[in-house]
Amino acid sequence: MNDNTAIINEIRSLLSGRTPKALVRSFGCQLNVSDGEKIKGLLGTAGYSFTEDEREADLIILNTCAVRESAEDRVFGIIGSMKKLKEINPSLIIGVSGCMTAQDHNAQRIKKSYPHVSFVMGTSAISSLPSLLLESLKGVKFSADTSEYDDFSQSVPQIRDSGFKASVPIMFGCNNFCTYCIVPYVRGRERSRRSDDIIREVRELVDGGYKEIMLLGQNVNSYGSGSENEISFPQLLRKLNEIEGDFIIRFMSSHPKDASQELIDAVFDCDKVERHLHLPLQSGSSSVLSRMNRIYTAEKYLETVERIRSRCPDFSLTTDIIVGFPNETEEEFNATLDIIRRVKYDNIYSFIYSKRSGTKAAVIDDFVSEEVKGRRMRELLEVQRGISSENYKRFLGRKMRVLVDEESKKRPGYLTGKSSEFIIVEFEGDASLIGQFVEVEITGSMNWAVKGKLI
Ligand code: SAH
Ligand code: SF4
Ligand code: F3S
Repeated sequence: MNDNTAIINEIRSLLSGRTPKALVRSFGCQLNVSDGEKIKGLLGTAGYSFTEDEREADLIILNTCAVRESAEDRVFGIIGSMKKLKEINPSLIIGVSGCMTAQDHNAQRIKKSYPHVSFVMGTSAISSLPSLLLESLKGVKFSADTSEYDDFSQSVPQIRDSGFKASVPIMFGCNNFCTYCIVPYVRGRERSRRSDDIIREVRELVDGGYKEIMLLGQNVNSYGSGSENEISFPQLLRKLNEIEGDFIIRFMSSHPKDASQELIDAVFDCDKVERHLHLPLQSGSSSVLSRMNRIYTAEKYLETVERIRSRCPDFSLTTDIIVGFPNETEEEFNATLDIIRRVKYDNIYSFIYSKRSGTKAAVIDDFVSEEVKGRRMRELLEVQRGISSENYKRFLGRKMRVLVDEESKKRPGYLTGKSSEFIIVEFEGDASLIGQFVEVEITGSMNWAVKGKLI
């Protein structure tokens, strides 16, 4: 971990009383968003204020995601378009951070083809931001730091995007090496934070008025493994549940191979842990799952679902699905549709397989055409739409406790929030309720949300 005090003082004196504006844009998963909040925290200490308007920014940091090609293309498009901004404002500093920078070919491409980028900062080098920034402010054309030193980013301050919902990473990296996935290569090996630190952070957040704590990790179920003195994830949930205060606990993601009975018991025993589990299936075919190195079979996955549903028959489950893994047959795809119909997820997040160079699956010759993959994706979405709209009817007449998120983008005068089951709830109400828990009686359902009345 870098000690930044001296560097930050030097930046402050270079800025000589000015408060320049920074824009930090995070792409990808919530872990990346959480890193973006740390980036903002460091910039805040160095004397920066924040803007969402790139035309008035003195510093722009793009915190990137590499999980699919489309995510990367989008970022390269944005970096390209920033050349104009730099021409209008030559003192503009542009930095690129996040998962894309961890791949050598991307870092090289940024350096070579986008000379208006001033620095590249790796996913484990956030604490090097002040020194990279200082070099840029002093006129150095290009700097990069992709070393791996701040696994825990403990002493990095954070400026959170929300005043009532907080993400708390409990672990970093991933050891699973699913054959399609770039994450283990760009985020490194699994490292768990100390439970004492996590508990202290959550306590402080709750004391500070935070209502939702989202525990984050690529596979939260393997929290603590590898460190002898550490408690397990279910034990961590129980400890966090003991913290006094009116708040809820959510977590993501739970790898099905490690979704133990102990975890299920903790979810049901802990009143602050919400009644929802995100359990990424990826494919309903055991043969595809084996080619993906997911470790579980479709049957094992269904057993886990059964163990959950035997405690609560309509327990809310959501999942991730990859359509068109190399050489996925029609039969294998139909096995996915079959499980989706059986489990009746409240929501699925589906992606067309994207080849990531460096992963094991990237070298497989794939004989399935893009047309077929597109058709399968449409079919999957259609099946899920039907399931969601049927599923959501079960909430009619129920009273739901909802944490209010924001004003509805579609209907003026309406608010949206999430229920314990992670279902979007829409109802008429005043914006002053945002960030609070309310009770809503459900009067209608759609295929993406339910509607209701404030009680
Ligand atoms: N650690 C989490 C997943 C993080 S990535 C887990 O295992 O659940 C989020 C999702 O992106 C994955 O669940 C997967 O469905 C999808 N994904 C990852 N790599 C992909 C790829 N190469 N192509 C398409 N989707 C991918
Ligand atoms: Fe990727 Fe698999 Fe790790 Fe999730 S568990 S981040 S899908 S390698
Ligand atoms: Fe993307 Fe990196 Fe997250 S690749 S999904 S931002 S861990």
